[in-house]
Amino acid sequence: MKILLLGSGGREHALAWKIAQSEKVEKLYIAPGNAGTMSVGENIAMKADDFEAIKTFVISHQVNMVVVGPEDPLVKGIYDFFHANAKLCDIPVIGPSKAGAILEGSKDFAKQFMMRHNIPTARYKSFTGDTLDEGLRFLETLEAPYVLKADGLCAGKGVLILPTLAEAKAELREMLGGMFGNASATVVIEEFLSGIECSVFVLTDGKDYKILPEAKDYKRIGEGDKGLNTGGMGSVSPVPFATKEWMKKVEDRIIRPTVEGLAAEKIDYKGFIFFGLINVKGEPMVIEYNVRMGDPETESVMLRIKSDLVDLLEGVAQGNLKDKVLDIDQRTAVCVMLVSGGYPEAYHKGYAIEGIERVQNSIVFHAGTTWKDGQTLTNGGRVIAVSSYGKTKEEALTQSFIGANLIDFQDKYFRKDIGFDL
Ligand code: AMP
Ligand code: GLY
Repeated sequence: MKILLLGSGGREHALAWKIAQSEKVEKLYIAPGNAGTMSVGENIAMKADDFEAIKTFVISHQVNMVVVGPEDPLVKGIYDFFHANAKLCDIPVIGPSKAGAILEGSKDFAKQFMMRHNIPTARYKSFTGDTLDEGLRFLETLEAPYVLKADGLCAGKGVLILPTLAEAKAELREMLGGMFGNASATVVIEEFLSGIECSVFVLTDGKDYKILPEAKDYKRIGEGDKGLNTGGMGSVSPVPFATKEWMKKVEDRIIRPTVEGLAAEKIDYKGFIFFGLINVKGEPMVIEYNVRMGDPETESVMLRIKSDLVDLLEGVAQGNLKDKVLDIDQRTAVCVMLVSGGYPEAYHKGYAIEGIERVQNSIVFHAGTTWKDGQTLTNGGRVIAVSSYGKTKEEALTQSFIGANLIDFQDKYFRKDIGFDL
């Protein structure tokens, strides 16, 4: 079959790497892809949310399945766009309908959904410009630190955690005053939860689900989880505290109620669900939903899936996921992200990347790279993910750090403490 994968980051290179291993795949296209995805498929210069261009391409190249990497096309309704078109409606899109993508597209909707289905999450209330005064009073009933979340998509910048009441009040005014444009017209204020985070992923066909390997990501730029938030500096899978018992709680209290809740609300959902969880004294609680795989979690999770991913995706599309087998590699997989100096603030692009071919015992996934005049160049803040297997986390990390040192570009930076807290 012919598959079109949408997106251009490390997550997409990892998905492409895994999809390309399937014997079922005759041709893999990635749009727009990066310098790494070129080695496992064919890059197509097309934006992941240009639905008209995607339509023309899918029809002219007889694509049999579209796999969506990032949330943007999903929140904009690519699934519904395909379903509404006579020429596209038989081509499965792996990802939820627009109604399902709201789980990520609106934090207020996600919180209401969790309330309706009794899914454990932090206590909260939502406010708009009209209810600013109530919001300020609600903050007074909470204890520090204060968690403010813009309702809409803000490229990962919409969550503020403030240490004092005065700062929280000031930020609430700013957010409701248009700090993130329309995305913060509604703000969710919630109770701060203290614990360690874990990302859990499932694939669902809307009725059944398969639980993929869980992972932990490292979001801060600095070692010891200090400094500014990034898109993610590395990941580790499995997560030691995600024991059988803990995962049973996650399945019973969170995964099953979510999948059943979506079905009960007649929300079409055939794709990945990413549960951003926090372990509060042994009890899993939901911090957020995403409607896609995580990045950089995918760069370790894909290493641990032994089964044919395309076979599983077919199960999602055809509604027979329960008949499919998901085999998981028992080894540990990790990823270490190499980023541009200055990231997540201002950084340069266009530096030559050397030494990728010297990496022997790791899998190199490109995140922000491009190919120009026969050279791989940096093209983003997060540049390259070095993923490795090991019998232990330490063994896998040792491999990734060897790889990270062999690859070179100007102002390269990476965290040397990935997995330190596990
Ligand atoms: P989100 O975009 O919802 O994932 O939030 C970004 C980050 O903020 C999360 O990964 C957590 O580290 C943190 N966070 C969000 N909500 C809470 C909360 N209620 N309590 C503590 N930390 C939170
Ligand atoms: N690693 C977190 C995310 O993909 O949102």
